[in-house]
Order: sequence, then C-alpha cells, then structure tokens
Amino acid sequence: MLSALLCLQLSSFAQYPAPSLIPQPVEMKIGRTEDNFTIANNSTQVFISDSSLRPSAEFFISFIKKHYLLDLTLTTTADPNRKNVINLIKEYPAQQRTNIENPEQYSLEVRAKSVSIRSSAPAGAFYGIQTLIQLLPPSAKPFPLQVKAVNITDFPRFAYRGMHLDVSRHFFDISFIKKYINYLAMHKLNYFHWHLTDDHGWRIEIKKHPRLTAVGAWRDGSIIGLYPGKGNDGIRHGGYYTQAEVKEVIKYAADRYITIIPEIEMPGHSMAVLAAYPELSTTPKQPKKVAETWGIFNKFNNVLLPSDQTFNFLEEVLTEVMALFPSPYIHIGGDECSKIWWKQSAFSQQLIKEKGLKDENGLQSYFIHRIEKFVNSKGKTIIGWDEILDGGLAPNAIVMSWRGEKGGIAAAKQKHKVIMTPENFMYFNHSQFLKDDSLTAARYLPLADVYNYEPVPAVLTPAEAKYIWGGQGNLWTEYITNPAKVEYMLFPRLDALSEVLWSPKPKRNFVNFKERLKEQFRRYDMMGVNYSKRYLKP
Ligand code: ACM
Repeated sequence: MLSALLCLQLSSFAQYPAPSLIPQPVEMKIGRTEDNFTIANNSTQVFISDSSLRPSAEFFISFIKKHYLLDLTLTTTADPNRKNVINLIKEYPAQQRTNIENPEQYSLEVRAKSVSIRSSAPAGAFYGIQTLIQLLPPSAKPFPLQVKAVNITDFPRFAYRGMHLDVSRHFFDISFIKKYINYLAMHKLNYFHWHLTDDHGWRIEIKKHPRLTAVGAWRDGSIIGLYPGKGNDGIRHGGYYTQAEVKEVIKYAADRYITIIPEIEMPGHSMAVLAAYPELSTTPKQPKKVAETWGIFNKFNNVLLPSDQTFNFLEEVLTEVMALFPSPYIHIGGDECSKIWWKQSAFSQQLIKEKGLKDENGLQSYFIHRIEKFVNSKGKTIIGWDEILDGGLAPNAIVMSWRGEKGGIAAAKQKHKVIMTPENFMYFNHSQFLKDDSLTAARYLPLADVYNYEPVPAVLTPAEAKYIWGGQGNLWTEYITNPAKVEYMLFPRLDALSEVLWSPKPKRNFVNFKERLKEQFRRYDMMGVNYSKRYLKP
C-alpha cells in the first residue's frame, strides 16, 4: 500500500511542468524530480545568516501561511546538520563571480535537503524569495508542498524598474496602496512612483499648509463618461494620507526593497493647490475649485504663478515631503503646464524680461531650475516629465520620457539619466482590448506591445545608452474608480513589464511568455488578484 502511494506520488512529481517564472531569470538549470524539496508544516525552518535578511524570510513565511496554511519557523542559528531548511545566506553568489557586484543579484539552489538563496545584499535575497514562491505549485492544496529542483543565477537588466499610480484622479486608501506595492515587489520592481498631487485632488498631509488637504483633497463631482464627458455626477470625491500613514507605507515598501518616489506636481496640474491658495495663481483674486473635468485646457484651469510667495510655499511643502520620504529622488512633475496663463500674467511677463528669458518655455525652465537648486541643497535629485527639457534642462535632473522617446533620447545625449515611459507602450490606463470590458482612456495598448517594448532606443550609441536607467509603467486613474479595476488594468501587463525590465533581452519571447502566464493566472486565482480574465479565452 505504502509503495503504491509512493509510486503515485513520484509519478505525479514527474508530471510537473517546467517552472513558469516571470520575469524569466538570467540562467536556470532544471534538476531531477528526486531533488525536489518538500516544505512541511512545523518542521521546515527558514535560516537567515544575517539580521538584514529578516524581511525576506518573514515575507516568505507569511506567504506560505496565508496561501498554503503551513507554519514555518525562522532561525538565526547555523546548523550544518539540518535536514529541512531554506537558507538565506548573505554572501556573494559563488557561481557568478563577475567583475561587478550587484546587490540585486542572487543565486537559488533547490535540493532535497535544503534550499539555498545567496546574495551579497538583502535585495537580492528578496528577489530569490520571489523566485522561490514561483517554484511552488499555484494552488492552495498541493500536498505535499514541493519546490521544484533548480539552479538559478539571476540579476536584473535595468537598475530602475518602476510602476506609477495616480491617486489624485481617484483616491485609494493605504491598505490598497500596500497591496499594490506588494504586487510590484512580487514582480521584482524596485520603484513605486506615487502621483500624489494633481488638478483633481491633493493627497498628502502637509502640516504647514493644512488647506491643501482640508480644501484641496476634495472635489464636488467628476465628469461622467469619456472626456469631455456627458455632465457631472455631483458626487463628492476625495481623501488623503496622513504623514503617519505615509511613514507606514514607506516602511512596508522598504521591507520589499521598493523605494517610493513621491510626485509633487508643478507648475501645472495644480488646481487642487490653487483651490486652497488662489493667491498662488496668475489670477489671485478669482476663487478656484478642485478640478472636476479631465484635461488641462479648460477655462477654469490655472497654473502656479512664478512668484517668491509660490517658491516659498513650494519649498515649505518639499521640506516636509523630503523629510518624510527617504528616497534620494523627488518627482516634481513639470508636464503639461499650459503657457496661456503666464502669457496673460503681467507679473510673469515682467519676470521673463527681468531674467532675460526667451519666452514662457524659458520661464518653465527657470521654474524647474530654481526648484532643482532647492531640492539639490537638501541632497536630493529631481525627476521630471520630459517637458522639463523645454527651455533647457536643469543641470542634475532625471527625465521621464512620456511623449514618446524623443525626450529620453535628447536627455541621454545630454548625459542625463532617463526613465522610459512612453505613452504608446507604458500607459496601462489605455485599453487592453479593442473593445474593453468597461470605460478606459480612448487608446489601445495590447499586452504584446508592452511585452515587446525595448527601453533602449536603437539610435543611441552604447555610451549614450548607458543613461537609460530603466523604464516604468504608468497607471492614470481618470477612469479607474476602484481597486478591482486597478488590478484589471494592471494584470497581466505588469507581468510583461517585469520581463522587459528584468530579463536579458535575448530571453524575451512573447509566445513562451503567454505559456508561462497560464500558471501565473492560477497563482493570481489563489491570491485573489483580479487580472483580466479575457486572456483565459482561446
Ligand atoms: C503625463 O501623462 N501628463 C505625464
């Protein structure tokens, strides 16, 4: 009887498909099924060789508890005789002694008696854990719980692997923000770009300027349907994060090796600021409202006046933001600042003359330079949308190329770091299908286009190409009103993005990726992720 059972078990092991990893690792050798490792309730231990590896071990232990209902114990005591152990070892992975030590690099070895993840730094160990999770069966009832025997060597292609979320057009509470960050971490992304302010709502508590949230965090309604819309729903919408909540989210992200880059928009996309403080606009006497319609060119809009009062205000805001976020990078927006307001403003025209600027683009450049100087004085670097190139790039700025790749190419040629996020390939608010399941922005971005996107433009020389720091997916939420829809828009395009940014270019293969997605969808089912189910249809 026992031997019959054993036989059955062995044959079921033999039927395991090859591991379906996303993103595809640099190198993987598949071992023999008899070398599979078994995770057993209350007996498998997770050993960490260094306390800095604790967040990775805890991530794994809680994942196993939540999805497989097994209890694993954490140990910091080394014991070479242990028989059932997952080792997290802080040491430079032996089999990949390249010249450059990469803190995100790891090796993963699965054998019958132990699993070993080696990395010179905690981030690499964390990515090893994410891969280990994908070696488990994507189902909650897989007893015994087996890890496929493999040898993996892995490191990312790009140092910047980002995903953005707009919480201004629609507000998402911190419990969902944490979930979102968790999703990014499981895809080995390392930056979360938090779009905290825009015309439609200010979302972060600033103690010195309480009206930003008392007034700026709320709008009285939103347009109905696709812009320009069919009327206004008249439903008050808003919300904001307290500084205590922001700190909690930063810690949560840091435990997942994600840096949060806060975005404070200027000088455009500022209606929420101007509703609270109209004196910072070009028409200080006219009261203003938090915007209720999408788009920037309507007659109710305005932008920040480039006055000393405005700069003092922005410096006070940025001082609080920079004290809160450990990120060395602060995103200052800079996009879509309509110049009509400065054209009509006597103060702005006088400033253009006084400073010898060429025109309103020169004024935009003056604005960003001045803010950059302040941010740099606090030891941080600015990131801006590619409009910050207009009128001349600030000396140390990093450029996010969104209006195609032109801005990114120009910035790389000027030896500035670039994050590629062109809207034709990286805007996940666009429809996934020609006719999507619900209202989306009126453009089409199928999965294949995301997957096949190449962040390094062919026109760059190898020396210039080094300035392409990485890429990012963006999720603007005009038409995304709830967490389930965020997930719908995100998955599986996030999977495609992770492979673009992590995997070696020659390893990318869309047909093979779609095969691997099948197992990923089963994992999402287990985790309760609301991916676009239409991909399941033949
Ligand atoms: C942008 O989409 N306005 C950066």
